Amino acid sequence: MKIALNSLAKKFFSLRKDHYAVKNLSLEINDKDFFVLLGPSGCGKSTTLNLMAGLEKPTSGEISFNDKIVASPAKKIFLSPKERNIAMVFQNYALYPHLNTFDNIAFPLKILKMNKTDIKKSVEQTADILKLSHLLKSKPNELSGGERQRVAIARAIVRKPDLFLLDEPLSNLDARLRTSTRAELKKLQRRLNVTTVYVTHDQVEAMTLADKIAVMNNGKIEQVGTPDELYDNPANIFTASFIGNPPMNIFKTKIMEQNNSFFIQIGNTKLKLGSVAK
Ligand SMILES: Nc1ncnc2c1ncn2[C@@H]1O[C@H](COP(=O)(O)OP(=O)(O)OP(=O)(O)O)[C@@H](O)[C@H]1O
Ligand SMILES: [Mg+2]
Repeated sequence: MKIALNSLAKKFFSLRKDHYAVKNLSLEINDKDFFVLLGPSGCGKSTTLNLMAGLEKPTSGEISFNDKIVASPAKKIFLSPKERNIAMVFQNYALYPHLNTFDNIAFPLKILKMNKTDIKKSVEQTADILKLSHLLKSKPNELSGGERQRVAIARAIVRKPDLFLLDEPLSNLDARLRTSTRAELKKLQRRLNVTTVYVTHDQVEAMTLADKIAVMNNGKIEQVGTPDELYDNPANIFTASFIGNPPMNIFKTKIMEQNNSFFIQIGNTKLKLGSVAK
């Protein structure tokens, strides 16, 4: 599914102060892409994801799925999450503690009133994909963090969504497990071929997973591009200092021209620049 966000804004009214969590945000996400929203804490990533899911209503702007508008205050259109056929995985997996793995994965199918035989088949297939077949009878408190994570993902994909939304799904895992689950997730997305939007503040995660990344700051988009494009040609200092490990060093310099050549001066060092287009 192809997603378009058009001048999207979300204003929160709170005791602290009214403010825009997302401001004038426009974005296109191609069908089947693994798309990452990357940015520091508080920049509006979760809000953007919640707007796509229908968990928040935009203050202004438009969201379309395959050219069909799903949210537009101006046109008085708002489709509920249920009507959007999306699946979402939250940072704190939110599994049902009293249900075992099978019933947690089966839950969305029961809501859809699917018959028992089909539910069993779908749950077993999905459990197999996520290597959970031996854990179907375990309750969440008997599972490790990584296993719980996989149950949450299984529950999300079991009903074949058109759009998969993931909000920092790996942040509760230890570093090693995070790396291996990340690789599994990428493989899974390729196999399911479902458009995926993934939120993270971790640039390494973004660089390894994404077909395309949108770098966000202060409710706005700084730059959209492939990992290589952002790394090789950052559009501004924000992207340049956010991407790369260790981060890029930024110097204030003077540029000068002498005898038709250009130089930059850093401290006492003068460096000649290559030919500069005038
Ligand atoms: N329900 C709300 N009411 C008021 N302000 C909110 C609400 N939800 C989010 N905000 C504010 O909107 C801004 C963006 O929040 P959001 O949760 O989208 O950030 P984020 O990029 O997901 O951050 P993090 O990486 O910490 O999860 C923040 O300043 C936050 O305090
Ligand atoms: Mg968030």
